Amino acid sequence: TRPLKVALLGCGVVGSEVTRIMTTHADDLAARIGAPVELAGIAVRRPEKVRDGVPAELITTDATALVKRGDIDVVIEVIGGIEPARGLITTAFEHGASVVSANKALVAADGAALHAAAEKHNADLYYEAAVAGAIPLVRPLRESLAGDKVNRVLGIVNGTTNFILDKMDSTGAGYSEALDEATALGYAEADPTADVEGFDAAAKAAILAGIAFHTRVTIDDVHREGLTEVTAADIASAKRMGCTVKLLAICERAADGASVTARVHPAMIPLTHPLASVREAYNAVFVEADAAGRLMFYGPGAGGSPTASAVLGDLVAVCRNKLAGATGPGESAYTALPVSPMGEV
Ligand code: NDP
Ligand code: HSE
Repeated sequence: TRPLKVALLGCGVVGSEVTRIMTTHADDLAARIGAPVELAGIAVRRPEKVRDGVPAELITTDATALVKRGDIDVVIEVIGGIEPARGLITTAFEHGASVVSANKALVAADGAALHAAAEKHNADLYYEAAVAGAIPLVRPLRESLAGDKVNRVLGIVNGTTNFILDKMDSTGAGYSEALDEATALGYAEADPTADVEGFDAAAKAAILAGIAFHTRVTIDDVHREGLTEVTAADIASAKRMGCTVKLLAICERAADGASVTARVHPAMIPLTHPLASVREAYNAVFVEADAAGRLMFYGPGAGGSPTASAVLGDLVAVCRNKLAGATGPGESAYTALPVSPMGEV
């Protein structure tokens, strides 16, 4: 079987781990896919940067030429942000590639148009890594729970802010010190304002609500309050009341089923609640569905290696689809439900 060719766009925190796993697990990946996968090129911004374990001959600064080559089967986009990521993904579809992305900001802003572009070109668009790092959530919601009716998705979906709150609560660390540590560990976005102002969690809430409720939700539909107003005194007084502070994303179907709401804000959580014991950059999400009841998804929510695990899972799925001449589930057939930022609080 011919090797499947993969173009990697971005080789930072996530991309470097994707490269490492693709190289060290090449035989396992080939066995699971049914064909070898070959890294055909790696697009970056600064070619001079030293990158351990990354084949120097694959590095290019011309991402557009890479996705236009015409022989690329799968493009992995781990650049982040809206442009040039959006243009590169669209160009990839036009040139016959499927796409795996970790880019929640882009999917939450323009997911419907990207799905339409993928469908037009018989390509896949997968983004398990965009929500909650290593935790499988997108595929369980889109596939495993497709026969059920999801009513609520609630939890911690941003590792950086959970790390900051945990450090402030458990070690008395200052806000800036904890943010610096989260950044050094590769958890924060390129611009950490996205984390601490709640934009990153709001993007994830939009993606989860859209998939869970079979409708279209963008980041603009999500009510958003970040962490910047939470003080050390707030955390101390929560503690005195037997609580801890967590940044929650809450997506709900209205009781009459006629609309959905999505919101992100800090909340006091009783120490007896499972969400209170989510430490460091871990995430935890409850999904409530009619038939299934209450499910909890828990695990590492940020960082290069956990995120690369989700990217590689998507890569295997997309490659299998390619070999089968098929595409996986795209944007689910949806009923356009009205979306409002705040439901009943
Ligand atoms: P980084 O900032 O570490 O890496 C970004 C990479 O993109 C760098 O290699 C950079 O090149 C490259 N790049 C930037 N602009 C361009 C451009 N115009 N052309 C080509 N390459 C470019 O980000 P992360 O790896 O942390 O994140 C990547 C994506 O994954 C984002 O969408 C993020 O939201 C998402 N994500 C991140 C997680 C994490 O824990 N870090 C978790 C889940 C998702 P250079 O190296 O030369 O600077
Ligand atoms: N900055 C994000 C976070 C990365 O801290 O959760 C994972 O999506």
